Amino acid sequence: MLWTRKDLLGLEYLNREEIELILDTASSFKEVSTREIKKVPALRGKTAVNLFYEPSTRTRVSFEVAAKRLSADVINIAAETSSVRKGETLIDTGKNIQALKADIVIIRHNCSGAANMLARALDISVVNAGDGWHEHPTQALLDMLTLQEKLGSIRGLHVTIVGDIAHSRVARSNIWGLTKLGAQVTVCAPEILIPAGIEKMGVNISNNIDQALKNADAVNVLRMQFERDANAAFPEQLEYFKKFGITSERLAKAKKNIIVMHPGPINRGIEVSSEVADGENSVILEQVTNGIAVRMAVLFLVSQGKG
Ligand code: CP
Repeated sequence: MLWTRKDLLGLEYLNREEIELILDTASSFKEVSTREIKKVPALRGKTAVNLFYEPSTRTRVSFEVAAKRLSADVINIAAETSSVRKGETLIDTGKNIQALKADIVIIRHNCSGAANMLARALDISVVNAGDGWHEHPTQALLDMLTLQEKLGSIRGLHVTIVGDIAHSRVARSNIWGLTKLGAQVTVCAPEILIPAGIEKMGVNISNNIDQALKNADAVNVLRMQFERDANAAFPEQLEYFKKFGITSERLAKAKKNIIVMHPGPINRGIEVSSEVADGENSVILEQVTNGIAVRMAVLFLVSQGKG
């Protein structure tokens, strides 16, 4: 199939074939990072701008690495040190980046819908690098690429997502992507961190992590987002760890080869023990590496899209 979209805003808006095209393109780009000269000329002459209104390590760096591997020029803008501090609106900032002849804007923002709004206002490509509680599509894509590599086809897999579902853009993008590719998804969290109506997205709901791990092929452990009010649900972090933390004792009762994922950054001893995070079931750093190939694929495809 041919890619036609100028933007990547979320997995809700993609069909199965489009998600598979991104994953296939990412698989073929993985080889570039194994070369002595890790570069191809696919985006030579193009300019990508990282426009980040929130902190990031993995996403910002891997978009930059991905763009450079494709021979694009990359400019990083942190809202904190830009004219956003002088009151410039998101749309005005975007239009100025467009006027400076950039080809792709990669945006992370604390407001849900910020990437969609920017994409409507601009003719150039917009890639969502995480917007509020809404979506983090490239995180879910790299999670799915990792699942495929480790477990084969995603169809029929049982994936448990545990943690702060209510505030999690990673959970939402994973749910859209995994269900479209035929996985069975269970979300597990204390009642107060399960958003109302989430069952309409086609997931099972559990408040018991031991039950939710029983048939799981993979567990995706989310960070407790204390900066987004998770405190209200669990004022005592140790209490959360006791009830929902992923520990070796819990994994011993799950499938032997269950894989443990985490989008990062990890709160060690809160949602996952160090023993598990660094243990043999963990694929957390492989997820990070796969972020490069997935973001190469996304930058390459949106630059072919016509809008
Ligand atoms: N997973 C993720 O989005 O990490 P960063 O916030 O470091 O980009």
